Amino acid sequence: MDKKYKRTLVTTALPYANGPVHIGHLAGVYVPADIYTRYLRLKGEDVIMIGGSDEHGVPITIKARKEGVTPQEIVDRYHGIIKKSFEEFGISFDIYSRTTSDIHRKTASDFFRTLYDKGVFIEKTTEQYYDTEAGQFLADRYITGTCPHCKNEHAYGDQCEACGTSLNATDLINPKSTISGSAPVLRETKHWYLPLDKYEGFLREWILEGHKEWKTNVYGQCKSWLDMGLQPRAVSRDLDWGVPVPVEGAEGKVLYVWFDAPIGYISNTKELLPDKWELYWKDSETKLVHFIGKDNIVFHCIVFPTMLKAEGSFILPENVPANEFLNLEGDKISTSRNWAVWLHEYLADFPGKQDVLRYVLTANAPETKDNDFTWRDFQARNNNELVAIFGNFINRSIVLTHKYFDGKVPQRGELTDYDNSVLEEFKSIKEELERYLSTYRFRDALREAMNLARIGNKYLADTEPWKLAKTDMARVATILNIALQISANLAIVFEPFLPFSAAKLRKLLNMASAEWDKIGSIDILKAGDTVEPAELLFEKIDDAVIEAQIKKLHDTKQENMKAEPSVAPIRENIGFEDFMKLDIRVGRVTECSKVPKADKLLQLKIDDGLKGRTIVSGIAKYYEPEELVGKQVCFVANLEPRKLKGILSEGMILSAEDADGRLAVVSPAADVTPGSEVK
Ligand code: MF3
Ligand code: ZN
Repeated sequence: MDKKYKRTLVTTALPYANGPVHIGHLAGVYVPADIYTRYLRLKGEDVIMIGGSDEHGVPITIKARKEGVTPQEIVDRYHGIIKKSFEEFGISFDIYSRTTSDIHRKTASDFFRTLYDKGVFIEKTTEQYYDTEAGQFLADRYITGTCPHCKNEHAYGDQCEACGTSLNATDLINPKSTISGSAPVLRETKHWYLPLDKYEGFLREWILEGHKEWKTNVYGQCKSWLDMGLQPRAVSRDLDWGVPVPVEGAEGKVLYVWFDAPIGYISNTKELLPDKWELYWKDSETKLVHFIGKDNIVFHCIVFPTMLKAEGSFILPENVPANEFLNLEGDKISTSRNWAVWLHEYLADFPGKQDVLRYVLTANAPETKDNDFTWRDFQARNNNELVAIFGNFINRSIVLTHKYFDGKVPQRGELTDYDNSVLEEFKSIKEELERYLSTYRFRDALREAMNLARIGNKYLADTEPWKLAKTDMARVATILNIALQISANLAIVFEPFLPFSAAKLRKLLNMASAEWDKIGSIDILKAGDTVEPAELLFEKIDDAVIEAQIKKLHDTKQENMKAEPSVAPIRENIGFEDFMKLDIRVGRVTECSKVPKADKLLQLKIDDGLKGRTIVSGIAKYYEPEELVGKQVCFVANLEPRKLKGILSEGMILSAEDADGRLAVVSPAADVTPGSEVK
């Protein structure tokens, strides 16, 4: 609220280190956080910005398994890419670390232990799916099966991506482990739960009463969570990747990634300031602000504050200015469909143009609703705003100063009424900027900043000093002095938004520093000061460049809506002897009929070269019985016979199944004698 703080701790959501970051991340979290932090620094305030990679969690283990490497190799790779691209993009973290660091493991472990020792957690034993072949419990994402709602056969244990329903693994029909392919069994397992329900009163009071000023999207989401009633949440998982649960008898269990990751903010602060970190986390005069995307609201407004509150010695966030989502060319950004503009690729394709993207993402930030990034808009904002207004104004001011005054700031004479009316327009800019920036309205703030460039540009266009040069040099001197002072103002005002261009501009104007308090002044540059020869701040971006980006986007788009793994991972190696235990034969289908009251099953009579056998097979959706009669098929001949719908099935027809669940029976490429062995 309107409390005075001594210092600010800015945190930015820790991106998962299972892929690079894209423009959605930037627009939602890192660009606004960077603007905010740079602004406070510029004002000379005590502020630190904390970032890092979120390196635990199931998706990382899935990716590792898919690529046949260790999770550590995955996170090393992406942490490196992410860190480097943030640096290049000018996101000015005071530290960008990671959750696999020793200091984090210890901090997270100790945090858990403190809550454990205080008796905060509830212990519960529940039944979870267990893969007996792989010998491990299965995270929901490792289980696929048929969605009970839409019958999509490739739903995940946590969600069906076809109909969007969120699921429990136990809801799935015919669950299958994606690790071994076998059907998992339910087994008992013990976990620790954070009893959010017990903190409901505190949360209602703190958020619903105490933080009515939070953004409506954030406040509204919190309110609906609280109104639905909170449940205890498991904070541990059966997984071999993460921070081990520091309790005896908890082997094979790790802290749930959403428990350890936000503690990463604390660990990274400790790493940055080993002696002073507590000042930022435990002093009531510190203002804690979490920058996040909207999918993280519940964790930062409800779960993490509850953890901090339960621990007892930490402050709570003062604000959580979460953004909505950024779409791309009218479609949701999607990592699995590769529908994204990746930061590291942007940096490679547009060297030196960090500020253009920063500008577009801020001008179009999804602050109050989802927004759309398009390459055409990117081009238009660059060409029509950065180049035509900001760049043009600066360039004219400097070029004319060199042309008429040898590159020296001219002395200002008497101001005209017109001059005064222009100066009047930018008098309030500092106040306006502060009002917007301190309330996380970065689009409005940027509009205000750009408005100053507009004022400058219009001033030169209206006064036309190049026409006065023949008749009234004194007037030209005044005009250019004012134009240069406005330029100097721009070099300060744009520092939080476009740090590269602002720095370049300060160099051109030989300004030693940017001082926030000078905004609004027309005495920043002294008459006689030297101005460097003009250099363009921005350059036009051609259609061809934009078309190439649009083409690249479409060319690399993955149409496959089924998220990974579309190809099942290869199972563990087996010995030759194991293989030889399988008796696979070729047989000819002599009779085939539907099994009554079972829409998936066909009953087949097979000539196996011996006395013949009956096999029941789940392929009725793919074959009409008559299609199969006469066909040769491969079957497992020594599978323990079992009864299906009352019919004894003596073996199993082999069929291939693709990612969409289509089946095709496997036949030899040429007819062979029934009973032939397959090996
Ligand atoms: N990795 C999470 C995501 O990308 C964000 C974690 S934020 C933290 O959605 F608080 F947990 F660190
Ligand atoms: Zn479904």
